[in-house]
Amino acid sequence: MSLLRGTPLILGLLIAPAAIGAAAQDRGAENATAVSDAPSNLKVLPKDISKADLNVLMFQYQKDLGRPCRFCHAENSETKQINYTSDENPMKNLARIMIGMTNDLNTKYLAQFGDRRYADPLTCGNCHRGQMKPPPFE
Ligand code: HEC
Ligand code: HEC
Repeated sequence: MSLLRGTPLILGLLIAPAAIGAAAQDRGAENATAVSDAPSNLKVLPKDISKADLNVLMFQYQKDLGRPCRFCHAENSETKQINYTSDENPMKNLARIMIGMTNDLNTKYLAQFGDRRYADPLTCGNCHRGQMKPPPFE
């Protein structure tokens, strides 16, 4: 857990508030949902993450993958309500593997460079480039 602890903060620092607003606007009203209840089903992110940091991360995932919240979170097909705590959407567990991988890349591997001269911490967007399927390098 200690390895994961700092990472959302590092990621959080990368994201300017203006960018978050723009991302939310781009996706339209369907995703104008903000995180309001305290999270109760965190398995890879730090359990004591602030609501503000969790919100920043989730809007970042949405932007990095070019997919709305319901791509990973279970949506009730009738009411269109999203249950963020539920693990019913299998994409959520795939995303958990990716969060762990990205944390490891930053904290176990890239951290060995000590003084990172060139690059900001690696994010989902470095590979995904705004798409669900990371595009091949041409
Ligand atoms: C790429 C997939 C993905 C996208 C897109 C995504 N999330 Fe998440 N979200 C996750 C994962 C994975 C977790 C669980 C993290 C963990 O287990 O530590 C999570 C957890 C949450 C939680 C905490 C739920 C609880 O009770 O533990 C909330 C709230 C949340 N997301 C809101 C959102 C919102 C709002 C959006 C859209 C702006 C969004 N998410 C977009 C993957 C995603
Ligand atoms: C080092 C590159 C890299 C990084 C960083 C990365 N991903 Fe991925 N991701 C991939 C690749 C490659 C795949 C496709 C795996 C496959 O072939 O099934 C993938 C697949 C996924 C999928 C499954 C998509 C599907 O339709 O099955 C999700 C969800 C996902 N990534 C979310 C994330 C999230 C969220 C982050 C950041 C926390 C992230 N990824 C960071 C490379 C990356």
